[in-house]
Amino acid sequence: MALLDIVTYPAPILDKPSEIIENIDDSIICLIQDMTETLYDAPGIGLAAVQVGHNKAMLLYDVAEDEDSPGTGLKVLINPRIVHTEGKVCSENEGCLSVPGLRADVPRHACVSVEGVDHEGKPVKIDAEGLLSIVLQHEIDHLEGRLFIERISSLKRNMYKRRVQKALKEEG
Ligand code: NI
Repeated sequence: MALLDIVTYPAPILDKPSEIIENIDDSIICLIQDMTETLYDAPGIGLAAVQVGHNKAMLLYDVAEDEDSPGTGLKVLINPRIVHTEGKVCSENEGCLSVPGLRADVPRHACVSVEGVDHEGKPVKIDAEGLLSIVLQHEIDHLEGRLFIERISSLKRNMYKRRVQKALKEEG
């Protein structure tokens, strides 16, 4: 296993839709293992393959709140899509490993139903609410080439973009 570098805004790959995975081959299994290590190291609760530079429709998440046995709630979702949404909610203080230094409130669906396959290619359907619903919407956004800053006020978004540009300039 290996720790992978997390790609951050404004890397162009983060704007690109991810490709459907046709075969869960060894390279995908290896990527899952490396992404798992990277997720827990970060630490984060969700990670899309595009965030580690792979334009593949796959995401990992772990929203288990069992602090005594961390790493036990890992789930892998391949080729996920939202098939149903219900209600509206404000996701408070949402953040993203690819958007360091920013947290913001994001309008989200309250509940979503998601279909995809797991790491063995078995069909999965998840009816999610609460934190899981938010994480799934956030990660599926990544697979569609969308960062959460696209869903916040333009004022906040532009402030963040200027801050990043300035920091990049200072780094030379
Ligand atoms: Ni993210």
